[in-house]
Amino acid sequence: MANLNIAAWMLQERSKMTIQPAPMPEPGSNEIVVKNEAIALNPVDPKIQAHSLLPLSYPTILGGSIAGIVAAIGSSVTKFKIGDRVTSSTPYYVKDDSRYGAFQKYSLTLEGSTSKIGTMPFEEAVTVPTSLGSAAVALSIVLGLKRPGKESISLPQKVLVWGGSSSIGRSAIQYAKMSGYRVISTGSPARFDDIKAIGASKVFDYKSNQISDDLKAEGPYEAIFDASGAPDSFAVIAQLFTSSGGAFASVLPDTAGVLPSHVKVKFMTYASLLFAEENSEFMKWLFNEYLQEKLLAGQYIPNKVGFRAGGLNGIQDAMDELLHGVTAQKIVLKP
Ligand SMILES: NC(=O)c1ccc[n+]([C@@H]2O[C@H](COP(=O)([O-])OP(=O)(O)OC[C@H]3O[C@@H](n4cnc5c(N)ncnc54)[C@H](OP(=O)(O)O)[C@@H]3O)[C@@H](O)[C@H]2O)c1
Repeated sequence: MANLNIAAWMLQERSKMTIQPAPMPEPGSNEIVVKNEAIALNPVDPKIQAHSLLPLSYPTILGGSIAGIVAAIGSSVTKFKIGDRVTSSTPYYVKDDSRYGAFQKYSLTLEGSTSKIGTMPFEEAVTVPTSLGSAAVALSIVLGLKRPGKESISLPQKVLVWGGSSSIGRSAIQYAKMSGYRVISTGSPARFDDIKAIGASKVFDYKSNQISDDLKAEGPYEAIFDASGAPDSFAVIAQLFTSSGGAFASVLPDTAGVLPSHVKVKFMTYASLLFAEENSEFMKWLFNEYLQEKLLAGQYIPNKVGFRAGGLNGIQDAMDELLHGVTAQKIVLKP
């Protein structure tokens, strides 16, 4: 490949971004190289930079969400060809290998964690794969809920997705709804219409004094998924379980220890489950079948795009902004 690759490098732990050339990745047999047209930041990226959240080898190139054009394919790849428009969740966070990092012009990724996007704009498509990967793992692998189009639900069942306007919450609502569940959610009142538009039957204000009573009245729930991980959410969720406990997963751990002892908190890093060997068929179904079909049919609603200018040079400012939190948007750049 005659093209040059350039990346936003973290040269050492906690260092700021340095823009400099990077090796052009070569695909392994089941891998593809994507020329990135859009990259999305995830909350874990600035947390790694600021707090060394994961043990990584430096220098490195962070990031796990890409959308662009297939530039090279490995010898056993059958589902994609050069020139396809795709989005992908790369296995960077589990492989600790900068070739899979998103913050560069050309990234390496897996055939099995990639979806074609049809005519959807790259900036919108890139908001989907990593959030959906986390949500689907939480709901189907951790909580054991049914998969859309795979298994049917005999009786009406309710699922609570706390934090319906977070990126993961939006994916969880759409996925659970498509699986046949009735979805109850929480969010700020300004987001109610949006959260209902993606599939929630009812939405409640998580800051209201009534929140606990409102959610109790809607229960019981087949499962509860906390897509915000906010410390104040645990105290309310704790009141929703019956004495026999309940199925509960959260994006962050219960550091305050407010959940009752009979509730098993299922917190884990979802990327490690998504890319685990034993879940490879699930991953391929999720990206090569479910998400691709929905994107090509225009049936998956992406996150709101918070586009930031500056290309690779703009990533550090975007990281600093995301470290302090954003609301109802995914920060996206064109590298
Ligand atoms: N365990 C894992 O493997 C894993 C994987 C991915 C992400 N995470 C973590 O999951 C969290 C969410 O990630 P994300 O990308 O989805 O975040 P995000 O899109 O940036 O979430 C922002 C939204 O969170 C909502 N929110 C904030 N506090 C809330 C509360 N107390 N109750 C309900 N909603 C609240 C806000 O909704 P409103 O606008 O409605 O107020 C806001 O719009 C992050 O901390 C991330 O690090 C964990």
